[in-house]
Amino acid sequence: MQKVGVIPGDGIGPEVIREARKVLDAVAEKRNLSIEYEEFLLGANHYLKTGEVLSDDTLQHLAKKDAILLGAMGDPRVRPGILEKGVLLRLRFHFDQYVNLRPTKLLDGVPSPLADAHKKVDMIFVRENTEDFYVGLGNRVHRGLSKSDLTLLRRAYEAKFDIGIDLKDEDELAFQIGVITKHGARRVVEYAFQLAKAKGIDLVTSVDKANVLTEIYGLWREAVEEISGRYQIPKEYQYVDAVAMHLVRNPERFKLIVTPNLFGDILTDLGAAIQGGLGFAPSGNINPAGVSMFEPVHGSAPDIAGKGLANPVGAVLSSALMLESLGHNEASRDVEKAVQDVLRSARFKTNDIGGKTSTSRFGDVVVERIASG
Ligand code: NAI
Ligand code: MG
Repeated sequence: MQKVGVIPGDGIGPEVIREARKVLDAVAEKRNLSIEYEEFLLGANHYLKTGEVLSDDTLQHLAKKDAILLGAMGDPRVRPGILEKGVLLRLRFHFDQYVNLRPTKLLDGVPSPLADAHKKVDMIFVRENTEDFYVGLGNRVHRGLSKSDLTLLRRAYEAKFDIGIDLKDEDELAFQIGVITKHGARRVVEYAFQLAKAKGIDLVTSVDKANVLTEIYGLWREAVEEISGRYQIPKEYQYVDAVAMHLVRNPERFKLIVTPNLFGDILTDLGAAIQGGLGFAPSGNINPAGVSMFEPVHGSAPDIAGKGLANPVGAVLSSALMLESLGHNEASRDVEKAVQDVLRSARFKTNDIGGKTSTSRFGDVVVERIASG
Protein backbone atom coordinates (compact mmCIF):
# COMPACT_ATOMS: atom_id res chain seq x y z
CA MET A 1 0.00 0.00 0.00
CA GLN A 2 1.35 3.39 -1.02
CA LYS A 3 0.08 6.48 0.69
CA VAL A 4 0.04 9.54 -1.48
CA GLY A 5 -0.83 13.05 -0.33
CA VAL A 6 -2.44 15.00 -3.15
CA ILE A 7 -2.40 18.80 -3.27
CA PRO A 8 -4.35 19.87 -6.38
CA GLY A 9 -3.84 23.59 -5.68
CA ASP A 10 -5.03 26.49 -7.83
CA GLY A 11 -6.00 27.29 -11.42
CA ILE A 12 -5.32 24.36 -13.75
CA GLY A 13 -3.71 22.42 -10.87
CA PRO A 14 -6.87 20.46 -10.00
CA GLU A 15 -7.62 19.89 -13.72
CA VAL A 16 -4.29 18.27 -14.50
CA ILE A 17 -4.15 16.38 -11.20
CA ARG A 18 -7.53 14.81 -12.00
CA GLU A 19 -5.99 13.36 -15.18
CA ALA A 20 -2.86 12.19 -13.35
CA ARG A 21 -5.09 10.40 -10.82
CA LYS A 22 -7.09 8.70 -13.60
CA VAL A 23 -3.89 7.46 -15.18
CA LEU A 24 -2.49 6.30 -11.83
CA ASP A 25 -5.70 4.37 -11.13
CA ALA A 26 -5.49 2.69 -14.54
CA VAL A 27 -1.88 1.62 -14.11
CA ALA A 28 -2.46 0.57 -10.50
CA GLU A 29 -5.20 -1.76 -11.66
CA LYS A 30 -3.04 -3.16 -14.43
CA ARG A 31 -0.04 -3.73 -12.18
CA ASN A 32 -1.96 -4.71 -9.07
CA LEU A 33 -0.74 -1.81 -6.98
CA SER A 34 -2.73 -0.29 -4.22
CA ILE A 35 -2.45 3.43 -3.80
CA GLU A 36 -4.32 5.32 -1.12
CA TYR A 37 -4.83 9.03 -1.71
CA GLU A 38 -5.57 11.79 0.71
CA GLU A 39 -6.40 15.21 -0.69
CA PHE A 40 -5.20 18.41 0.91
CA LEU A 41 -7.15 21.37 -0.37
CA LEU A 42 -4.47 24.01 0.06
CA GLY A 43 -4.31 27.08 -2.13
CA ALA A 44 -6.18 30.30 -2.76
CA ASN A 45 -9.67 29.21 -1.70
CA HIS A 46 -8.45 27.75 1.56
CA TYR A 47 -6.32 30.81 2.24
CA LEU A 48 -9.08 33.33 1.46
CA LYS A 49 -11.57 31.44 3.62
CA THR A 50 -9.34 30.72 6.62
CA GLY A 51 -6.31 33.03 6.37
CA GLU A 52 -4.13 29.95 6.66
CA VAL A 53 -1.59 28.92 4.03
CA LEU A 54 -0.15 25.67 5.38
CA SER A 55 -0.57 24.51 8.96
CA ASP A 56 1.82 22.50 11.11
CA ASP A 57 -0.93 19.94 11.42
CA THR A 58 -1.02 19.49 7.64
CA LEU A 59 2.77 19.16 7.58
CA GLN A 60 2.54 16.40 10.19
CA HIS A 61 -0.09 14.62 8.11
CA LEU A 62 1.98 14.89 4.96
CA ALA A 63 5.04 13.56 6.78
CA LYS A 64 3.28 10.20 7.07
CA LYS A 65 2.86 9.87 3.31
CA ASP A 66 5.16 7.96 0.96
CA ALA A 67 5.02 10.81 -1.55
CA ILE A 68 3.22 14.02 -2.42
CA LEU A 69 1.64 14.84 -5.78
CA LEU A 70 1.02 18.53 -6.37
CA GLY A 71 -0.75 20.49 -9.12
CA ALA A 72 0.18 24.17 -8.98
CA MET A 73 -0.07 27.14 -6.66
CA GLY A 74 -0.93 30.77 -7.38
CA ASP A 75 -4.10 32.78 -7.88
CA PRO A 76 -4.71 36.34 -9.12
CA ARG A 77 -6.79 37.07 -5.98
CA VAL A 78 -3.78 36.49 -3.74
CA ARG A 79 -0.64 38.61 -3.64
CA PRO A 80 2.13 36.80 -5.59
CA GLY A 81 4.42 34.77 -3.38
CA ILE A 82 2.07 34.08 -0.48
CA LEU A 83 0.91 30.71 -1.79
CA GLU A 84 3.93 29.90 -3.93
CA LYS A 85 6.41 30.52 -1.13
CA GLY A 86 4.04 29.57 1.66
CA VAL A 87 3.24 26.16 0.27
CA LEU A 88 5.82 25.13 -2.33
CA LEU A 89 8.99 26.51 -0.79
CA ARG A 90 7.87 25.63 2.71
CA LEU A 91 7.26 22.01 1.70
CA ARG A 92 10.59 21.79 -0.13
CA PHE A 93 12.46 23.08 2.92
CA HIS A 94 10.42 21.26 5.52
CA PHE A 95 10.99 17.91 3.87
CA ASP A 96 14.53 18.86 2.88
CA GLN A 97 13.89 17.97 -0.76
CA TYR A 98 17.38 18.82 -1.86
CA VAL A 99 17.19 17.46 -5.40
CA ASN A 100 15.11 19.06 -8.10
CA LEU A 101 14.81 16.36 -10.73
CA ARG A 102 13.83 17.42 -14.22
CA PRO A 103 13.80 14.77 -16.94
CA THR A 104 13.90 16.62 -20.25
CA LYS A 105 12.85 14.40 -23.08
CA LEU A 106 11.46 15.43 -26.42
CA LEU A 107 8.66 12.97 -27.08
CA ASP A 108 7.81 11.82 -30.61
CA GLY A 109 4.95 13.85 -32.00
CA VAL A 110 5.74 16.95 -29.96
CA PRO A 111 7.06 19.95 -31.88
CA SER A 112 10.17 21.59 -30.45
CA PRO A 113 11.28 25.10 -31.35
CA LEU A 114 14.92 24.11 -31.01
CA ALA A 115 15.70 20.51 -31.63
CA ASP A 116 15.62 18.87 -35.03
CA ALA A 117 12.86 16.33 -35.09
CA HIS A 118 15.29 13.53 -35.90
CA LYS A 119 17.57 14.32 -33.01
CA LYS A 120 17.07 12.49 -29.77
CA VAL A 121 16.81 14.87 -26.84
CA ASP A 122 16.80 12.84 -23.66
CA MET A 123 18.53 14.24 -20.63
CA ILE A 124 17.99 14.65 -16.94
CA PHE A 125 18.67 17.79 -14.96
CA VAL A 126 19.66 17.28 -11.33
CA ARG A 127 19.38 20.72 -9.78
CA GLU A 128 20.42 21.48 -6.23
CA ASN A 129 17.32 22.76 -4.47
CA THR A 130 18.31 24.36 -1.16
CA GLU A 131 21.46 26.51 -1.47
CA ASP A 132 23.38 28.84 -3.81
CA PHE A 133 21.98 32.35 -4.33
CA TYR A 134 18.54 31.20 -3.20
CA VAL A 135 19.28 31.00 0.52
CA GLY A 136 17.57 34.34 1.04
CA LEU A 137 20.51 36.19 2.58
CA GLY A 138 21.00 39.76 1.52
CA ASN A 139 20.35 43.36 2.35
CA ARG A 140 20.16 46.89 1.00
CA VAL A 141 22.34 49.41 2.76
CA HIS A 142 22.83 53.15 2.47
CA ARG A 143 25.80 55.47 2.44
CA GLY A 144 27.97 55.22 5.52
CA LEU A 145 28.46 52.52 8.07
CA SER A 146 26.05 49.63 8.41
CA LYS A 147 25.95 46.19 9.83
CA SER A 148 23.95 43.21 8.60
CA ASP A 149 23.37 40.17 10.79
CA LEU A 150 22.19 37.30 8.66
CA THR A 151 21.56 33.73 9.71
CA LEU A 152 21.22 30.66 7.56
CA LEU A 153 19.51 27.89 9.46
CA ARG A 154 19.25 24.46 7.92
CA ARG A 155 18.48 21.04 9.34
CA ALA A 156 22.10 20.00 9.06
CA TYR A 157 23.88 23.26 9.83
CA GLU A 158 23.68 26.86 10.91
CA ALA A 159 25.78 29.77 9.60
CA LYS A 160 25.80 33.29 11.01
CA PHE A 161 26.99 36.17 8.83
CA ASP A 162 27.99 39.37 10.46
CA ILE A 163 28.70 41.84 7.69
CA GLY A 164 29.92 45.36 8.21
CA ILE A 165 29.84 47.72 5.25
CA ASP A 166 31.29 51.18 4.91
CA LEU A 167 29.74 52.62 1.76
CA LYS A 168 31.44 55.68 0.32
CA ASP A 169 30.55 57.91 -2.64
CA GLU A 170 27.34 56.07 -3.43
CA ASP A 171 23.80 56.30 -2.04
CA GLU A 172 22.72 52.73 -1.94
CA LEU A 173 24.04 49.23 -2.36
CA ALA A 174 22.32 45.84 -2.49
CA PHE A 175 23.99 42.52 -1.89
CA GLN A 176 22.92 38.92 -1.93
CA ILE A 177 24.96 36.05 -0.62
CA GLY A 178 25.34 32.73 -2.37
CA VAL A 179 26.15 29.78 -0.17
CA ILE A 180 27.27 26.28 -1.01
CA THR A 181 28.31 23.87 1.71
CA LYS A 182 30.38 20.75 1.32
CA HIS A 183 27.46 18.78 2.72
CA GLY A 184 24.98 20.43 0.34
CA ALA A 185 27.11 19.92 -2.77
CA ARG A 186 28.20 16.39 -1.95
CA ARG A 187 24.72 15.01 -1.38
CA VAL A 188 23.24 16.27 -4.63
CA VAL A 189 26.29 15.22 -6.65
CA GLU A 190 26.14 11.79 -5.04
CA TYR A 191 22.49 11.58 -6.04
CA ALA A 192 23.39 12.52 -9.62
CA PHE A 193 26.06 9.84 -9.96
CA GLN A 194 23.88 7.17 -8.38
CA LEU A 195 21.11 8.07 -10.80
CA ALA A 196 23.53 7.94 -13.74
CA LYS A 197 24.71 4.52 -12.61
CA ALA A 198 21.18 3.18 -12.13
CA LYS A 199 20.16 4.38 -15.58
CA GLY A 200 23.33 3.39 -17.43
CA ILE A 201 24.04 7.01 -18.33
CA ASP A 202 27.55 7.45 -19.75
CA LEU A 203 28.16 11.18 -19.33
CA VAL A 204 27.62 13.49 -16.37
CA THR A 205 28.01 17.20 -17.06
CA SER A 206 28.65 19.45 -14.08
CA VAL A 207 27.68 23.06 -14.71
CA ASP A 208 29.23 26.02 -12.93
CA LYS A 209 30.98 29.32 -13.41
CA ALA A 210 34.08 28.44 -11.45
CA ASN A 211 36.27 30.67 -13.60
CA VAL A 212 34.62 33.82 -12.23
CA LEU A 213 32.71 32.84 -9.09
CA THR A 214 35.73 30.97 -7.87
CA GLU A 215 34.87 30.41 -4.21
CA ILE A 216 31.32 29.20 -4.38
CA TYR A 217 31.67 27.09 -7.53
CA GLY A 218 35.23 26.08 -6.66
CA LEU A 219 33.77 24.22 -3.70
CA TRP A 220 31.11 22.75 -5.97
CA ARG A 221 33.81 21.42 -8.32
CA GLU A 222 35.75 19.88 -5.48
CA ALA A 223 32.65 17.96 -4.46
CA VAL A 224 32.14 16.72 -8.04
CA GLU A 225 35.81 15.74 -8.26
CA GLU A 226 35.62 13.83 -5.00
CA ILE A 227 32.33 12.01 -5.58
CA SER A 228 32.91 11.21 -9.26
CA GLY A 229 36.15 9.42 -8.31
CA ARG A 230 34.05 6.65 -6.80
CA TYR A 231 32.18 5.98 -10.02
CA GLN A 232 33.31 4.64 -13.37
CA ILE A 233 31.23 7.21 -15.20
CA PRO A 234 32.76 9.77 -17.56
CA LYS A 235 32.22 13.33 -16.41
CA GLU A 236 32.92 16.81 -17.72
CA TYR A 237 32.87 20.35 -16.36
CA GLN A 238 31.21 23.08 -18.39
CA TYR A 239 30.57 26.73 -17.78
CA VAL A 240 26.95 27.76 -17.69
CA ASP A 241 27.21 30.15 -20.62
CA ALA A 242 28.63 27.42 -22.86
CA VAL A 243 25.91 25.03 -21.72
CA ALA A 244 23.23 27.55 -22.70
CA MET A 245 24.70 27.67 -26.20
CA HIS A 246 25.04 23.90 -26.52
CA LEU A 247 21.48 23.37 -25.30
CA VAL A 248 20.26 25.41 -28.25
CA ARG A 249 22.70 24.07 -30.84
CA ASN A 250 23.04 20.43 -29.92
CA PRO A 251 20.91 19.46 -26.93
CA GLU A 252 21.30 15.76 -27.78
CA ARG A 253 24.89 15.79 -26.49
CA PHE A 254 23.76 16.01 -22.85
CA LYS A 255 22.71 13.00 -20.79
CA LEU A 256 22.69 14.17 -17.19
CA ILE A 257 23.38 17.69 -16.03
CA VAL A 258 24.10 18.30 -12.37
CA THR A 259 23.98 21.94 -11.40
CA PRO A 260 23.77 24.40 -8.53
CA ASN A 261 20.39 26.00 -7.86
CA LEU A 262 20.56 29.28 -9.81
CA PHE A 263 21.92 27.95 -13.09
CA GLY A 264 19.58 24.99 -12.77
CA ASP A 265 16.59 27.29 -12.48
CA ILE A 266 17.46 29.04 -15.71
CA LEU A 267 18.67 26.07 -17.75
CA THR A 268 15.67 23.91 -16.90
CA ASP A 269 13.30 26.46 -18.38
CA LEU A 270 15.34 26.28 -21.54
CA GLY A 271 14.98 22.52 -21.20
CA ALA A 272 11.20 22.84 -20.92
CA ALA A 273 11.14 24.85 -24.15
CA ILE A 274 13.24 22.19 -25.89
CA GLN A 275 10.83 19.48 -24.79
CA GLY A 276 7.89 21.29 -26.35
CA GLY A 277 6.74 23.71 -23.68
CA LEU A 278 5.77 23.99 -20.03
CA GLY A 279 2.80 21.67 -20.48
CA PHE A 280 5.10 18.69 -21.10
CA ALA A 281 7.61 19.12 -18.28
CA PRO A 282 7.48 16.95 -15.14
CA SER A 283 9.54 17.37 -11.99
CA GLY A 284 10.36 15.84 -8.67
CA ASN A 285 11.53 17.51 -5.47
CA ILE A 286 13.42 14.66 -3.93
CA ASN A 287 14.70 13.69 -0.55
CA PRO A 288 15.93 10.14 -1.12
CA ALA A 289 15.51 9.37 2.59
CA GLY A 290 12.31 11.30 3.19
CA VAL A 291 9.08 12.47 1.61
CA SER A 292 9.46 13.56 -2.01
CA MET A 293 7.06 15.73 -3.95
CA PHE A 294 6.17 15.48 -7.63
CA GLU A 295 4.67 18.30 -9.65
CA PRO A 296 4.39 19.57 -13.20
CA VAL A 297 6.80 22.41 -13.87
CA HIS A 298 4.12 24.83 -15.00
CA GLY A 299 2.17 27.15 -12.73
CA SER A 300 -1.57 27.57 -12.21
CA ALA A 301 -2.08 29.22 -15.64
CA PRO A 302 -5.08 31.36 -14.63
CA ASP A 303 -5.42 32.50 -18.26
CA ILE A 304 -6.65 29.07 -19.34
CA ALA A 305 -8.07 27.67 -16.08
CA GLY A 306 -11.52 26.12 -16.20
CA LYS A 307 -11.62 25.88 -19.98
CA GLY A 308 -10.37 22.35 -20.57
CA LEU A 309 -7.34 23.74 -22.41
CA ALA A 310 -4.59 22.59 -20.04
CA ASN A 311 -2.09 20.03 -21.23
CA PRO A 312 -2.03 17.29 -18.55
CA VAL A 313 1.18 15.61 -19.78
CA GLY A 314 3.48 17.37 -17.26
CA ALA A 315 1.27 16.23 -14.39
CA VAL A 316 0.85 12.71 -15.76
CA LEU A 317 4.61 12.31 -16.28
CA SER A 318 5.18 13.68 -12.77
CA SER A 319 3.05 10.84 -11.45
CA ALA A 320 5.20 8.43 -13.48
CA LEU A 321 8.28 9.90 -11.80
CA MET A 322 6.57 9.38 -8.46
CA LEU A 323 5.90 5.72 -9.28
CA GLU A 324 9.55 5.26 -10.22
CA SER A 325 10.76 6.86 -7.02
CA LEU A 326 8.46 4.53 -5.06
CA GLY A 327 10.11 1.58 -6.80
CA HIS A 328 7.30 0.77 -9.25
CA ASN A 329 9.43 0.90 -12.36
CA GLU A 330 7.18 -1.14 -14.62
CA ALA A 331 4.13 0.94 -13.77
CA SER A 332 6.15 4.08 -14.35
CA ARG A 333 7.26 2.87 -17.77
CA ASP A 334 3.66 1.91 -18.65
CA VAL A 335 2.58 5.50 -18.04
CA GLU A 336 5.45 7.00 -20.01
CA LYS A 337 4.91 4.62 -22.88
CA ALA A 338 1.17 5.29 -23.02
CA VAL A 339 1.77 9.05 -23.12
CA GLN A 340 4.40 8.58 -25.81
CA ASP A 341 2.14 6.32 -27.91
CA VAL A 342 -0.74 8.77 -27.75
CA LEU A 343 1.46 11.71 -28.75
CA ARG A 344 3.17 9.77 -31.53
CA SER A 345 -0.17 8.88 -33.10
CA ALA A 346 -0.68 12.66 -33.54
CA ARG A 347 -4.45 12.21 -33.29
CA PHE A 348 -4.75 13.79 -29.90
CA LYS A 349 -3.12 17.15 -29.40
CA THR A 350 -3.93 19.64 -26.70
CA ASN A 351 -4.44 23.32 -27.39
CA ASP A 352 -0.89 24.38 -26.49
CA ILE A 353 0.49 22.52 -29.52
CA GLY A 354 -2.29 23.57 -31.85
CA GLY A 355 -4.71 20.71 -31.25
CA LYS A 356 -8.31 20.44 -30.11
CA THR A 357 -8.15 17.62 -27.57
CA SER A 358 -9.42 18.69 -24.16
CA THR A 359 -7.59 18.06 -20.90
CA SER A 360 -9.91 15.27 -19.80
CA ARG A 361 -10.15 13.67 -23.25
CA PHE A 362 -6.38 13.44 -23.38
CA GLY A 363 -6.36 11.74 -19.99
CA ASP A 364 -9.04 9.30 -21.13
CA VAL A 365 -7.02 8.34 -24.20
CA VAL A 366 -3.93 7.68 -22.08
CA VAL A 367 -6.05 5.53 -19.75
CA GLU A 368 -7.43 3.53 -22.70
CA ARG A 369 -3.91 3.04 -23.99
CA ILE A 370 -2.74 1.69 -20.62
CA ALA A 371 -5.70 -0.63 -20.34
CA SER A 372 -5.17 -2.05 -23.87
CA GLY A 373 -1.34 -2.06 -23.83
P1 NAI B 1 2.29 29.42 -15.81
O1 NAI B 1 3.19 28.26 -15.94
O2 NAI B 1 1.10 29.23 -14.97
O3 NAI B 1 1.80 29.86 -17.29
C1 NAI B 1 2.67 30.37 -18.29
C2 NAI B 1 2.03 30.23 -19.67
O4 NAI B 1 2.05 28.84 -20.05
C3 NAI B 1 0.57 30.63 -19.67
O5 NAI B 1 0.25 31.25 -20.89
C4 NAI B 1 -0.17 29.33 -19.55
O6 NAI B 1 -1.45 29.34 -20.13
C5 NAI B 1 0.74 28.35 -20.25
N1 NAI B 1 0.65 27.02 -19.63
C6 NAI B 1 1.17 26.67 -18.43
N2 NAI B 1 0.89 25.39 -18.16
C7 NAI B 1 0.19 24.92 -19.20
C8 NAI B 1 -0.40 23.66 -19.50
N3 NAI B 1 -0.30 22.62 -18.66
N4 NAI B 1 -1.06 23.53 -20.67
C9 NAI B 1 -1.16 24.57 -21.53
N5 NAI B 1 -0.62 25.77 -21.30
C10 NAI B 1 0.03 25.96 -20.14
O7 NAI B 1 3.17 30.64 -15.29
P2 NAI B 1 2.69 32.12 -14.91
O8 NAI B 1 1.58 32.56 -15.81
O9 NAI B 1 3.92 32.91 -14.85
O10 NAI B 1 2.13 32.02 -13.43
C11 NAI B 1 0.76 31.80 -13.09
C12 NAI B 1 0.67 31.52 -11.60
O11 NAI B 1 1.32 30.29 -11.30
C13 NAI B 1 1.38 32.57 -10.74
O12 NAI B 1 0.62 32.73 -9.56
C14 NAI B 1 2.72 31.94 -10.44
O13 NAI B 1 3.31 32.43 -9.27
C15 NAI B 1 2.32 30.49 -10.30
N6 NAI B 1 3.41 29.52 -10.54
C16 NAI B 1 3.37 28.40 -9.77
C17 NAI B 1 4.28 27.38 -9.98
C18 NAI B 1 4.12 26.13 -9.20
O14 NAI B 1 3.07 25.90 -8.59
N7 NAI B 1 5.10 25.26 -9.20
C19 NAI B 1 5.35 27.51 -10.98
C20 NAI B 1 5.25 28.72 -11.79
C21 NAI B 1 4.33 29.68 -11.55
MG1 MG C 1 11.99 28.64 -12.91
